[in-house]
Amino acid sequence: LDAAVVQQKLLAWFDGVRATRGMPWRKDVDPATMDEEERTQRGYEVWVSEIMLQQTRVDTVIPYWLKWMAKFPTVKALAEADIEEVNGVWQGLGYYSRAKRLLDGARTVMDSHDGVLPSTADGLLSIDGIGPYSAGAISSIAFGQRSATVDGNVIRVLSRLTALHAPDKAKSTANFIWALADVLVPPQPKRRKKKARDSDGEGGEVGGEGKCGVGGKNKPGAWNQALMELGATVCTPKAPKCDECPLSDECLAYAEARYVAHQPK
Ligand code: ADE
Repeated sequence: LDAAVVQQKLLAWFDGVRATRGMPWRKDVDPATMDEEERTQRGYEVWVSEIMLQQTRVDTVIPYWLKWMAKFPTVKALAEADIEEVNGVWQGLGYYSRAKRLLDGARTVMDSHDGVLPSTADGLLSIDGIGPYSAGAISSIAFGQRSATVDGNVIRVLSRLTALHAPDKAKSTANFIWALADVLVPPQPKRRKKKARDSDGEGGEVGGEGKCGVGGKNKPGAWNQALMELGATVCTPKAPKCDECPLSDECLAYAEARYVAHQPK
């Protein structure tokens, strides 16, 4: 398995589909250009979306996310809400403990972090209600950190990619997939500052936007979303659409299936 090839192909595919499901929180912003307040706001948007998406489909989540952000537009606004208001907006989405976790988390951010959302996965884990999945998703998608995130989709996609015939609910499988996912997250390209002696008069940065190739302005974030998106739309549990998959040439389960199909009976 060639990680660079897999990264290139999946990110190129995601560039083409990132807008197709109309997720209002999915924005290709460059984390390096945000100030502290914008980062917290961006992190909050992604945080709410990821908590909602944990047990609920995208189509259902979209109107709830919009309603939630209209009612509690900032972490501060959420922290000042009470549980009845929060549950009211959550009404119909199910698994209400998620709403309570968001409220508790917002209060932790205000009370223990001066209203600033931590940007690393480790920092985010210190917020009430944020576990490893959300910490990895928020830190990569909102902040461009090179952190992995593993949900059921990612377990299935990476198990197939590596032809890992292991029970997908086993703790040992999750541990292996987390380790694999960690290795596979592409780094954010370095932005080299031009040296003062450069004399073309342009100044500024090279190697940043426009020079990154695939994956937009935030490769780690695009990568994690691409894995989840592939699992949700192509590498589905039943009847995966291998003929539409950007990774079929790299996929060891696909190779195995073709090999088995061509053995004499
Ligand atoms: N499922 C959960 N989070 C997701 C995301 N950011 N993109 C696509 N599917 C997801």
